[in-house]
Formats: sequence, structure tokens, C-alpha cells
Amino acid sequence: AFPLLPPYRIKVVEPIPFLTAGQRREAYAAAGYNPFNLRADQITVDLLSDSGTGATSSAQEAAAARGDESYAGARSWFPFRDEVRDLTGYPHVLPVHQGRAAERIVFSTILRPGQICLSNTHFDTTHANVELAGAEARDLPTPRALDLDSDDPFKGDVDLDALERTLAGPDGERVGLVLMTITNNGLGAQPVSMANLTAASELCRRYRVPFWLDAARFAENAWLVREREPGYADLSPREIATRAFQLADGCVISLKKDGLAPVGGVIGVRDPDIFATCEANLIATEGFSTYGGLAGHDLERLAVGLREVVDEDYLRSRAASTARLARLINEAGVDTVQPAGIHALYLNAGRLLPHLDPGRFPGHALASQLYLTGGIRCAELGSLYLGELNDDHQLVRPAPFELVRLAIPRRVYTEAHLEYVARTLGEIAKQPDQVPGYRITAAPRVLRHFKVRLEPA
Ligand code: F0G
Repeated sequence: AFPLLPPYRIKVVEPIPFLTAGQRREAYAAAGYNPFNLRADQITVDLLSDSGTGATSSAQEAAAARGDESYAGARSWFPFRDEVRDLTGYPHVLPVHQGRAAERIVFSTILRPGQICLSNTHFDTTHANVELAGAEARDLPTPRALDLDSDDPFKGDVDLDALERTLAGPDGERVGLVLMTITNNGLGAQPVSMANLTAASELCRRYRVPFWLDAARFAENAWLVREREPGYADLSPREIATRAFQLADGCVISLKKDGLAPVGGVIGVRDPDIFATCEANLIATEGFSTYGGLAGHDLERLAVGLREVVDEDYLRSRAASTARLARLINEAGVDTVQPAGIHALYLNAGRLLPHLDPGRFPGHALASQLYLTGGIRCAELGSLYLGELNDDHQLVRPAPFELVRLAIPRRVYTEAHLEYVARTLGEIAKQPDQVPGYRITAAPRVLRHFKVRLEPA
């Protein structure tokens, strides 16, 4: 067995640009030192997101050619619906154009103003959609996640003691939803164990609170359960994923990740009344319930992608590839959140750049240096994104950690591209004190990191 061997070869390729250091300096200054403002044709290796950035297969494109674009009851709807039903076990399925549309529709149906949504960790759009529904998004990650260096296998878990304390305590009456994010994208791509999901599900049943999954990376979570949790080695990743869905009342899924397609999302739900309310909202805001804002060809790609993503050889090679990149990066002198997950690695920028205090945004400094040195795009998960600023854009409360996420698109980059990333980090790690900090020149009030402008300081 050679775990790194992917079960596919490359058939269609897309050129990537190589800029000179001078061109990158100019491009980055024009972008206001914000990677979200760069143009794709200024980037050599793009690790900004694993969302919608994967490669499709010849089987997906063949299916897409058969896409039926009828307004209602399109032929393409049925294989998609059946695949989601079979995978999740939920009788009711609604397509949406991406994950956050599912969040908006479900949260505005389930949550009332003043209620609380509890989670292992809300993703940023998820957090925003809970608040748009008038509710409070509260994260209860396991305290084991706070040790970035430990090799605890399930740092994505929810803190069960805190969950029970909240449900039983004075705020218990106000909890309208418990949402488990698998894998935990906000906290190091760490998986959630089946034991943790089972216990959280039982607590929710006991306290009569709806229990849902944000399952954007359901296949990758299933793979890590199989590898790390006793009792699951003999089940297929798909069987493990189905068992996870069975523990919940419903799911929202961004299919831009483990759907292996550029666009798409889905809502799955057991309760017919919740389904009916969501369906009415979907028709008013996304599209008719047999396409939900997607084209027929998108639904076809997704139905095939949902099968391909649970392929053992695919998951094994993807996990091995990320683990190898983590090893190369660590050997080059840069620490990552341990143990390596699958869809992304999180660099410990705070530790690499101790000469930069949080107010000079060490995470952003490292992400910026990766672009300036090597044309590699990624973004920080630190004080620029999560810290609290005053009206003069000065940091008043830093984030708990200064991290940089290297998100790894599915089936896109070869081992040579990833080795290049590790080598570029190695170059930076030779003289970390040469990496400059940054200062904010302009920042929007909400979702700051997307549109903020900065300068070296
Ligand atoms: N939930 C999780 C856990 C996510 O990671 C994302 C998106 C969403 C929901 C929203 O889905 O983008 O389809 O609307 N994550 C991307 C990322 C953007 O880069 O991590 P969406």
C-alpha cells in the first residue's frame, strides 16, 4: 500500500502564473495588502480556500453534459435528491446555491429572536446567519483544543460539560438549536468523534433542543473517525457519515467542499413542518424546490461528487498528502496545529514571529510574506479576523491565537506544488525577524477581513 497515491490522473490542466518578486510587491500594494483583493492571475499557488476550488472528474463532467434545465421537476434533480437521501437518511431534501443560503433558511425557520445557538464552533458565515436571525451564536469548543501542540485525536469536539451546564442552567430555556460543525473549520480542521456527536445528540434529546449538523466536510470527518476512533476501522467512510447524520434532526451542507463541485449546498431534514417552512422560504428566495438556485448541470456534478468523495483511496491519499505537507512544514521550522486535519493546515504565526505583538497582526504578516516571497495566497485566522478593534483601528482585544490557514483544494495541486509551499515557508523561517508587521488603514464594520486595507508598519 502506498497511501499517498491518488486514485486518478490529470486530464485537463490550467496554467498558473509565475510573477517576479517586484511584480508581486506591486500587486500586493495595489491590493491594499489584503489577499482577498488579489486577482487570481497574480497567484502561483492559491490556498485561500478549499471551497468551490476542487477539480471535477470526467465522470462528473459527463453527467453535467446531461444536465436537464427544466424549471420544475428537472431530470437532474432526482439523482441528486436520491443521493442525499441515501447518504443522510433524511426524507426531505432542499437544494441551495451554497452553504450560507442553507444556514439563512434553516436558522430563520428554527431560531427566534433572543434565542441561543450552541456549537463546537460556528463558521464565520454561520455565526453571521445566527445573528441575522436575531439569535446569539455561542461557541463551546472542548478545552482540549486550546493546546495547539497536543496530538489529541478529536479536538473538534464540543465541550459536553459546558453543553449540559448551559442546557440545564438559566440560559437553557433560550437554547433554540445545537449545531455541530464537522470537521471543525474554525478550530484547526479538527474532527469530531462519533462518541462526542452521540453524547451531544442525547443531551439535546433530553432537553428537547433541535440537534443539527453543519456537515461541509462530512467525508473528511468520517475518514478521521475511521482512522482515529476505536470501533470504526471496519466501516466504510460513507457508513460512518450516514451514522453521523442519523444522530441529528437535520443538516446544512456547503457542497462546495465535500460535494466536489464549484457550487452547491443542501438542507436535509426529518421534520415535515420544518421542511415545509424552509421550502416556502427557498422558493421565495433561492429558486423552485427542484433546483434551489442551481443549474441542472450542477446537480448532476454533485450527485456524482457525493459518491466520489467517500471513496477510500481518495480520502486516504488526501489525508496522507496533508499530513506529509504538515511534516515538511514542521521540518522547515514552522509549527502547525497538531494533529494535521485534512482540508487545511493552520500555521502558528504567533510562535514564529514573536517580534510582532498581536496589534501588528503576526498572522497577517506571515500570510502576506507567503505571497511576497512565493506567490502563495492564504489568509490569517488571528487578531485581524477575530480581534476587537477601536474606532482608530487599534487592536484592543487580541484573538486567542495568531494562526494562518493553508486550505488545500481537492484534487488540484501535486506534491510538487505542496513541496514548494513548504520550501517557501522554510525560506521565511530562516529569518523570521525580517517579516514586517502591518497596520490597518481602512476597515469595514462587519466581516472586516474581506475588505480591510493595510500597510506595512
Ligand atoms: N460551514 C462551514 C464549516 C464552512 O467552512 C463554510 C464555508 C460554510 C459553512 C459556508 O458555506 O461558503 O458554501 O456558503 N467555508 C469556506 C472556507 C468559505 O473557506 O472555509 P458556503
